[in-house]
Amino acid sequence: MKHATASALIIFLAALLISPGASGAAADAQKKDQPQKAKQIEATAGIADKHPEIEPGMSCNDCHEVKLDANTSATQVWLKGDYLKWQAGEGVMTKDQVWDRIMNIFKTKNMKATFVMATCLNNRPYTYTADFALDPAKKVLYAFHEKGTEKLAHIKNNPHISMNWHREFDDNFANVACFQVLGKAEIFDGATPEFDEGLKVYPYEYAAKARKMTIEQWREVVKKSMIMTRTTIDRIRLTEGALAPLNFRTSQEWTR
Ligand code: HEC
Repeated sequence: MKHATASALIIFLAALLISPGASGAAADAQKKDQPQKAKQIEATAGIADKHPEIEPGMSCNDCHEVKLDANTSATQVWLKGDYLKWQAGEGVMTKDQVWDRIMNIFKTKNMKATFVMATCLNNRPYTYTADFALDPAKKVLYAFHEKGTEKLAHIKNNPHISMNWHREFDDNFANVACFQVLGKAEIFDGATPEFDEGLKVYPYEYAAKARKMTIEQWREVVKKSMIMTRTTIDRIRLTEGALAPLNFRTSQEWTR
């Protein structure tokens, strides 16, 4: 028994030395020893009388990982389930078809669109409005932001972002169009090659004229004074009234 434990320990230590991923395993093992690390809970879970005391200002997900049961949520029914005239699985577009609809929205304005983007820090969500340009090949979004803003501090600490684009609702469901993006944002300054890649995609030239600068001068100002975010799109959920006459559900999903 003792011998088995010792050799397991040696194997474990050897794994630590040779595998870069093993430090994660060690951290997990350490986590298990910490009594305050709580189990996963459902998003609908409540707290029982015997629950450890929760200090004011703490949220469930400070201690628990909160599981969202995405299979029974209303959105899942609209996307794929038995809903209105649709049987489960009917009226669902292919990923490429959904992507084409997204492209059509971007094409209306030089591959750039105005989004509301949400970040989250210390369990407090924060939204802001910015223009994002799409690189259709890599399926990433580029935006340029003033240095030192709050959102950049949020992204540095928590790169998971959520974004929303929508057409103003005119009270006619046939004209509804909106989509939500889940993704991961990275931050680059003007000295990086990624920044130059972003400038190739983002149509920044138009703003030079308003500032009475040449495009070259404006480009230098952008590189010096702005910070770029590159957001890798992981999932898009699209709602579009115009899909109904095409015999598709009006809620569709694209995932990477
Ligand atoms: C300060 C950390 C902390 C916070 C905040 C917290 N919990 Fe807990 N919770 C625990 C610990 C510790 C346990 C006991 C260990 C366990 O069962 O995971 C527990 C247990 C539970 C359990 C029982 C889990 C099981 O499967 O036995 C539920 C359900 C639960 N918590 C729900 C909640 C909800 C809902 C909130 C937010 C309103 C919340 N908790 C906030 C620490 C916390």
